[in-house]
Amino acid sequence: MKFDIVTLFPPMFDGPLTESIIRRAVERGLVDVRLHNIRDYATDRHRVVDDAPYGGGDGMVMKVEPLAACIEAVKTERPAARVILTTPRGRRFDHDAARELAGREELIIVCGRYEGIDERVRDLFVDEEFSIGDFVLTGGELAAMVMVDAVIRFIPGVLGSPGSAECDSFADGLLEYPQYTRPVEFRGARVPDVLLSGNHAEIGRWRRQKALELTRRVRPDLLHGAELNGSDRDYLAM
Ligand code: ADE
Repeated sequence: MKFDIVTLFPPMFDGPLTESIIRRAVERGLVDVRLHNIRDYATDRHRVVDDAPYGGGDGMVMKVEPLAACIEAVKTERPAARVILTTPRGRRFDHDAARELAGREELIIVCGRYEGIDERVRDLFVDEEFSIGDFVLTGGELAAMVMVDAVIRFIPGVLGSPGSAECDSFADGLLEYPQYTRPVEFRGARVPDVLLSGNHAEIGRWRRQKALELTRRVRPDLLHGAELNGSDRDYLAM
């Protein structure tokens, strides 16, 4: 899968994209991430990329010309790519959105900055806008990193075991059950006996119940959209 990131700050992506699972996915050719600096497409002497808003007001607005030139240059290489804009104004990015985007071959992610971008960039180039939450970041770069990370987990071969992304928190609408590894006891706190029992039916039941309990306690809103069966409902009614 190919990601082209349109940003004013390419170095921000150095760390996250060059470590761990993402790095391995890139090295194995499963993922290709290219960074494009919007400032390289500013044609004036000072390479200006922002300007004061028409109508007055605080802050600066990202100019349309360098952004348009940058997006168009990327599009000549990726004519079929979907163009995404990261902005607090977008559709909420979640598990389903990540899986949906992972079904595409090519994505161009435009990182918004400053007080906003000239609206004509949206009208002329952007296919879809995403927000990673109801808060405002100083720019869309962190949002783009979050999205790339969440999307590539769905690409076959990126995670160690196939299906890991499908078993995640949110895959069935519930938070994930608690996990333990060795030692069996740490400062008096023991791993639940059922996990040591070797009884996989019991373990499965326990995990499901813990996922239900946790979701009800921390994110009760998720229960409405979760895929619940009869015994889930019985358990929650207890
Ligand atoms: N840019 C600024 N805040 C953002 C958010 N919450 N999501 C996506 N992009 C953003």
